[in-house]
Amino acid sequence: MGLRILGWGSALPEKVVTNHDLQKTLDTSDEWIVERSGIRERRIGDSTAALAIEAGRAALSKSNVDPASVDVMVLATTTPDQAVPACSAHVHHELGLGGGAFDLNAACSGFVYALVMANGLLETGANRVLVVGAETLSRITDWDDRNTAVLFGDGGGALMLEREAGEGQLLGWDLGLDASAREILQCDLGGFVQMDGREVFKRAVRVLVDSAKRTLAQAKVRSEDVKLLVPHQANIRIIQAACDRLGIPEENTAIVLHKTGNTSSASIPLALVDAIDAGRLEEGDLVLMTGFGAGMTWGSALLRWQSPPEAQGASA
Ligand code: COA
Repeated sequence: MGLRILGWGSALPEKVVTNHDLQKTLDTSDEWIVERSGIRERRIGDSTAALAIEAGRAALSKSNVDPASVDVMVLATTTPDQAVPACSAHVHHELGLGGGAFDLNAACSGFVYALVMANGLLETGANRVLVVGAETLSRITDWDDRNTAVLFGDGGGALMLEREAGEGQLLGWDLGLDASAREILQCDLGGFVQMDGREVFKRAVRVLVDSAKRTLAQAKVRSEDVKLLVPHQANIRIIQAACDRLGIPEENTAIVLHKTGNTSSASIPLALVDAIDAGRLEEGDLVLMTGFGAGMTWGSALLRWQSPPEAQGASA
């Protein structure tokens, strides 16, 4: 048994904050932010639950799946709205989902972790799993700290998955953690994100490349056969360095960071949904997702793209 993607969705708050807006209150400039990160603007606002609900609703509607027939929802987030109950409880209620739901925190690798968890659930008996990544990093960002304020944003993305007989679309994966580096990127409860940017940068390139290579080797796929790389959207220079080392042309990557900033768990699904909606994927294309985040966690997943079955009718 494996997974089949039935539908997808994404959500961004309405409020746009440009680099020019930030330079009014911070000792920074549009030129510096664009050159060092590739980010031009980000979206700020809403709650994590609201973004998860919007993205999840879009994925359910696209796949024409009855929400009550969902067995499990996995919500990847580092910014739940409350400590208790889990953010997923609110989302479960508003979407009218059946089955269970839980939050998963693996920082910016969260969506890949959630996808791999979902695959395991489908292999062991679940029929439908909704996977969501949603964040409101703006709530844990110190808007007076130029080291972090220029990088982060809010958003959400979701995939509706169904069990499929056979191998399914997930061909390989790699999850990991080097907790000796847990202090280079952290946020206390009630506090703001603190980061050693240079150290994160250095390690990020290394773990992205190593994790991507392990995933490709596991699936016996060459990097030149990857049609689309969907990297965590943290910094364009990290992505360029990873592409270079993997031998994947930069034009074969899905990029949204110039308009979203780093949205942690939401960044990979936002970039994937953007690429799908732009018609960049054809039947059988290989899609490699790879991310890294606080912990330091990393995660990669290789998918074979399959168009979802046409309007299946709401299935019970
Ligand atoms: N605007 C203007 N200048 C800034 C600035 C800002 N927002 N932030 C830092 N600077 C300054 C620094 O103080 C430093 O000045 P100095 O040379 O006088 O000391 C200079 O710019 C260079 O700083 P440095 O930290 O070396 O820049 P960088 O090229 O490493 O870029 C980051 C900084 C944060 C963009 C980059 O390190 C990065 O993206 N790291 C990874 C972060 C990340 O991905 N986090 C999320 C992980 S999920």
